[in-house]
Amino acid sequence: AKRAFVVGYPISHSRSPMIHGYWLKQYGILGAYEKRAVDPADFTEFLAKLRESESGYQGGNVTIPHKESAYQLADYPDALAEELGAANTLWLENGALYATNTDGYGFIANLDQQQPGWDNTGCAVVLGAGGASRAIIQAIRNRGIAKIHVINRTKEKAHELARRFGPTIEGHGFDALNDVLQGAGLLINTTSLGMSKASNADSEAFPTIAWEKLAENAVVTDIVYVPLETEFLRRAREAGFATVDGLGMLLHQAVPGFEKWFGVRPEVTDELRQLIIADL
Ligand code: ATR
Repeated sequence: AKRAFVVGYPISHSRSPMIHGYWLKQYGILGAYEKRAVDPADFTEFLAKLRESESGYQGGNVTIPHKESAYQLADYPDALAEELGAANTLWLENGALYATNTDGYGFIANLDQQQPGWDNTGCAVVLGAGGASRAIIQAIRNRGIAKIHVINRTKEKAHELARRFGPTIEGHGFDALNDVLQGAGLLINTTSLGMSKASNADSEAFPTIAWEKLAENAVVTDIVYVPLETEFLRRAREAGFATVDGLGMLLHQAVPGFEKWFGVRPEVTDELRQLIIADL
């Protein structure tokens, strides 16, 4: 039987086994997908054993805090992983370790499924400049979105991403938010921030969003999926915009790995979505 893993530290929270387990069953594949908790100090050794096929794995997923190390230690990271400096999907070919990053693919594939036509805009605004933000910026830039504004509390991190991803990306602090929203057709929250309730105007607060400045047909999406409808998405919906929650990205980012390890390109169905929702 073919086997794959998800490696992280900690790993208990991971929902990947449920996703891959569903597909294994669905496609009648005799295989296994296992959680592996590996301390950062032991990660190099984990990959060494993987290469020697001692473990019997075809490959696996990598999550926090190993994504950067996975990229650095892989023999053949692809161009996406290279530019991000992080990998979330590993597979073996002839004893060599290949790596890619499917987070951006997952983001885009989900929008394509839920809001086809979402990319019919010249301008996107991305809130946040962390790891998830990078994968999303890369993916929407590669899709051809002409201008991407990155807004971050720490302005310098937004500027750094603009340098990394090229001339169509602009970095800003929170103060620029409402200027760059003008006419934007895509607004993405990649921060873990809950939006401020009227009662807590503290450091956890989102900057106020002038929803009326967005393009009329704008799509608003969040990468957070607990709760499924975040305060950010709730406000966007109430302002009349199409919204897409963060769960779909998680489901879709799993597709390329499953295909590599088990040989079938799996489908993200509503049944799978409901299965995960029941467990949130
Ligand atoms: P991930 O890998 O999930 O993207 P990350 O790399 O830790 O997580 O990035 C977290 C993002 O959320 C950052 O953009 C961070 O802003 P800073 O760069 O200024 O830290 C943003 N973030 C987290 N908590 C925040 C808060 N209380 N207020 C504003 N931004 C916050």
